[in-house]
Amino acid sequence: MAKRNVIVGQSGGPTAAINSSLAGVYRTARERGYKKIYGMIHGVQGLMEGKYIDLSEHIQNGLDEELLKRTPASYLGSCRYKLPEIHKDKETYDKIFKILEELEIDCFIYIGGNDSMDTIKKLSDYGMLTGSDIRFVGCPKTIDNDLALTDHTPGYGSAAKYIGTSVKEVIRDGASMKNKNGLVTVIEIMGRDAGWLTGAAALAEGEDCPGPDAIYLPELPFDVEAFEKKIEMLLKAKNSVVVAVSEGIHTADGTYVCELGMSSDFVDAFGHKQLSGTATYLCNLLSSKLGCKARAIEFSTLQRAASHSASRVDILEAYEVGGAAMKAADEGDTGKMVVFVRTSDDPYQCGTEIKDVHKIANEERLVPRNWVNEEGTYVTSEFLTYVRPLIQGDVSPIMVDGIPRHLYKPGYYDLLK
Ligand code: F6P
Repeated sequence: MAKRNVIVGQSGGPTAAINSSLAGVYRTARERGYKKIYGMIHGVQGLMEGKYIDLSEHIQNGLDEELLKRTPASYLGSCRYKLPEIHKDKETYDKIFKILEELEIDCFIYIGGNDSMDTIKKLSDYGMLTGSDIRFVGCPKTIDNDLALTDHTPGYGSAAKYIGTSVKEVIRDGASMKNKNGLVTVIEIMGRDAGWLTGAAALAEGEDCPGPDAIYLPELPFDVEAFEKKIEMLLKAKNSVVVAVSEGIHTADGTYVCELGMSSDFVDAFGHKQLSGTATYLCNLLSSKLGCKARAIEFSTLQRAASHSASRVDILEAYEVGGAAMKAADEGDTGKMVVFVRTSDDPYQCGTEIKDVHKIANEERLVPRNWVNEEGTYVTSEFLTYVRPLIQGDVSPIMVDGIPRHLYKPGYYDLLK
């Protein structure tokens, strides 16, 4: 049967590499002879409102493709949208499948994290139930690096590189100032319940930098008193103390540290609370208890949008998994996600495989306990051996007037409204 069309969407938190995966899907779909390649605007949520574009109007030549690979955030717009359980709301699925049939879709590719893979799981299940020929394949993405069954996820390497670099710069800055009673800088890093990103703060350490003084991952309960004591002790030995904390650190009873201060009550469709304010809370506590100067830094969206310091390995791998997801769908796979399988750290060697999305959706892969020191205040050398290959190499931005250029077509921002 002649090949018809493809549709691709982006979902969940953006990364510096997610558009490289989009470029990979596009290129492979073209090479494999599909007629139209559509992009959902704001993922499946926008698709249900009939919002999509013809990607060939946005990727018109090789330069557009190169710009897309270097453009941060989700070019197509993203969403955090949870599809209902199939048995509870068949109508939603009928509506989506009707749109897909009208667009003559053969392959549906979704680039996202564990929540987004829930969408691939449910749509492929519904397709199986109804005998649809549409193939649904997931392409991994998340700075959190917490997807099950894969060695790592595209987006993580670039965010880790930004974190290692920025922590190093902050350490240098702090050390250069002479502060009365000392200075404590608490850096808050994303990652929710997984500490992969926070652990990357240790990448700052090297011949020319002592690295952060402590790192607190969300995998272990956080003891506020023990933290205070540790900082007090560190301040006796040095004038500037730099600590990295995960946004998701929580006390033994499960209360997020950010909830101890003023935090937002916002909860997304997957029940995730907005985590923010951990560093501010801890800094206020330290300055009032220890009388030192304390500065809170929240890397926030900077860490996932920093395409100007993206890892070359990450951007290339993101492109590769986009192509692999498209290839899998083209060859008949459905209800699957592409994963990375690492065969060697040095030299770094990594390939792709296809795995059942039912074993991935809604699961979380956390940092193993033995990759954190006994005291729970730093990552081990195994962690660094794991992450180092993922941050290697640079991708030069295409600079215009001294600022990186991103892919843009007239009316682009209106599309995302
Ligand atoms: O999904 C990745 C992530 O970056 C998490 O680390 C973070 O908690 C969350 O997204 C923040 O999402 P939002 O920008 O929607 O608040």
